[in-house]
Amino acid sequence: MARGQTAYVCQSCGAVHAKWAGQCNACDAWHTIVEEQAAPPSGGSARRTAKGRAVALETLASVSAAPPRRMTGVAEFDRVTGGGLVAGSALLLGGDPGVGKSTLILQALAAYARKAPSVVYVSGEEALDQVRLRATRMGLAQAPVQLGSATCVEDILATLAAGPVPDILAVDSIQTLWTSALDAAPGTIAQVRTATHDLVRYAKASGTAVIFVGHVTKDGQIAGPKAVEHLVDAVLYFEGERGHHFRILRAVKNRFGATDEIGVFEMTGSGLEEVRNPSALFLGDRSGLSPGTAVFAGIEGTRPLLSEIQALVAPSSYGSPRRAVVGWDAGRLAMILAVLDARAGLGISSRDIYLNVAGGLKIAEPAADLAAAAALISSHTGRALPQDCVVFGEIALSGDVRPAPQADARLKEAAKLGFSRALVPAGTKAEGLALERISDVGGLVRLLDAN
Ligand code: TYD
Ligand code: MG
Repeated sequence: MARGQTAYVCQSCGAVHAKWAGQCNACDAWHTIVEEQAAPPSGGSARRTAKGRAVALETLASVSAAPPRRMTGVAEFDRVTGGGLVAGSALLLGGDPGVGKSTLILQALAAYARKAPSVVYVSGEEALDQVRLRATRMGLAQAPVQLGSATCVEDILATLAAGPVPDILAVDSIQTLWTSALDAAPGTIAQVRTATHDLVRYAKASGTAVIFVGHVTKDGQIAGPKAVEHLVDAVLYFEGERGHHFRILRAVKNRFGATDEIGVFEMTGSGLEEVRNPSALFLGDRSGLSPGTAVFAGIEGTRPLLSEIQALVAPSSYGSPRRAVVGWDAGRLAMILAVLDARAGLGISSRDIYLNVAGGLKIAEPAADLAAAAALISSHTGRALPQDCVVFGEIALSGDVRPAPQADARLKEAAKLGFSRALVPAGTKAEGLALERISDVGGLVRLLDAN
């Protein structure tokens, strides 16, 4: 596309349209299509060399040594990155505005700078005094972090070229970046992508690990982190429920590590505190028996994590019963209800159902099925599960309870937290707790009724 041509680009998903429209037909978002000057082809140069250069082809076996890792010293952050930041890599940290991204980055940079004073923090969003004020509040003012205020990529690159190559560079945020090579406004897809691309190239060339901070946007006025996810090596999302103090760092893409790891933090008056024992946090203080709750022994990444699933089954006052789910998949709940009705004759589909994972945790594991079913049955019958009991297992459409992986790790964590019984799928081989093996949902209903 020649320079000067315009394109209509959705700021939410990046789809390019031939003409303006109110709704993007690629992602269905409204009012997100903006007229932009077409970006020059990646690399910034429209010139094409007449002849390509042959590259050496290699075998898979010719593995070079593992790339050096830079551990920041914030253990939860290092674990989610897969064991520290990789030299020459680019990482994107996305999250809702105000969730604590800048706080986390500042803490990680300060911790690293104490070991090796070679980190640069470029803030395009906050004035340097604001960043200093926060650092003072968090007790990090003495850490040798080099601060800069810049939004123009050329300025950032010139600043970096003038000094020694830093080990880690953080740019807060991608939405404030712009390059003079484009006329589009900062925050548009074209600007965000081009600027990110230039800094990723700097990372690859210099060996600096670059961290980008990106705001998740709902209204599509500025480009979201999705627009650059494909450009970076790792994507982490920082999540937290409003009204809750703790935050979960989750990897959704990682070229250098696993993507199912989570890190748990608690937001305090003096920054983020790492939560080393999240099970205790998510279980809160459980006192007394209450019908409708079940403790799920889950696995998040490499770590076992206990959480409480709460259910409320109530008579429905409308024609179509209400369903509300927080922290779990609504489709999965519908499936469990259908299976309980069809295979165990429970008759709860016509009732209002509310399901909540305590503490704002989001559970994606199918192994939570049995715990959700136990909570539902318990609320329905009004009989509480034993207080010292954990539950896990996947439920199939046939009503069978399927085994879940890493049963040992789940039960060990439960034992550590003082639980002594477990409802597990039939065939689970493990020692320690008193196991109640369940082969189908009918068995679960019978067992809970007899309690
Ligand atoms: P911030 O890191 O600025 O969020 P983001 O960069 O994701 O937009 O964090 C902002 C929130 O965190 C703000 O609402 C106040 C809260 N906070 C604390 O509770 N304690 C602290 O020590 C800090 C620095 C922030
Ligand atoms: Mg911020």
